[in-house]
Amino acid sequence: MHDDIDRILFSESAIRARVQALGQKITRDLVGQDVVILALLKGSVVFVADLLRAIDIPVKVDFAWVSSYGHATTSSGKVQLKVFPDEQLRGKTVVLVDDILDTGRTLSEVARRITQDLGAGSLRTCVLLDKVARRVVPVPVDYVGFEVEDVFVVGYGLDFADRYRNLPYIGVLKPALYEGGES
Ligand code: PRP
Repeated sequence: MHDDIDRILFSESAIRARVQALGQKITRDLVGQDVVILALLKGSVVFVADLLRAIDIPVKVDFAWVSSYGHATTSSGKVQLKVFPDEQLRGKTVVLVDDILDTGRTLSEVARRITQDLGAGSLRTCVLLDKVARRVVPVPVDYVGFEVEDVFVVGYGLDFADRYRNLPYIGVLKPALYEGGES
């Protein structure tokens, strides 16, 4: 385990099993539909790479870049849409994939854009982690990997100051590393 990690919440094998199950459910639910998997950068890159390989129907893949947190440990409350998808979404089934659902601001804003502005035919939301206790904006979530307590989690795509995304498990960051100000 990395020295900066207090404890492991979800091991590599637990994540693998859960992602496989999510992929199978998405496969069953969306078979026969014109599907675009739309992942939000950067946090979802590891998750979506594994999720894609667990989905056994033809899908397209695209990315949007949304940033709301910068390097702070709590949400600034502002959702910035930096880059929107290339893919034509009109009339398609869009599966919006993110690593973590926290206040809900990011997912609700992107969901609104995708349906209202980009004309997606139907929208599904898929997050690996759901920090239910932190929700400010209600967001319907169709596929959830794990519910997670309100602790600072990193790894498997999740970062602190853009670090730790490459850890293969999800762990709790030692508080000493972020206490005393934002990086
Ligand atoms: C994180 C995470 C979600 C969002 C969730 O993104 O990836 O997109 O925050 O928070 P919310 O529910 O309170 O909106 P971040 O802005 O940290 O960017 P990143 O994906 O590049 O890490």
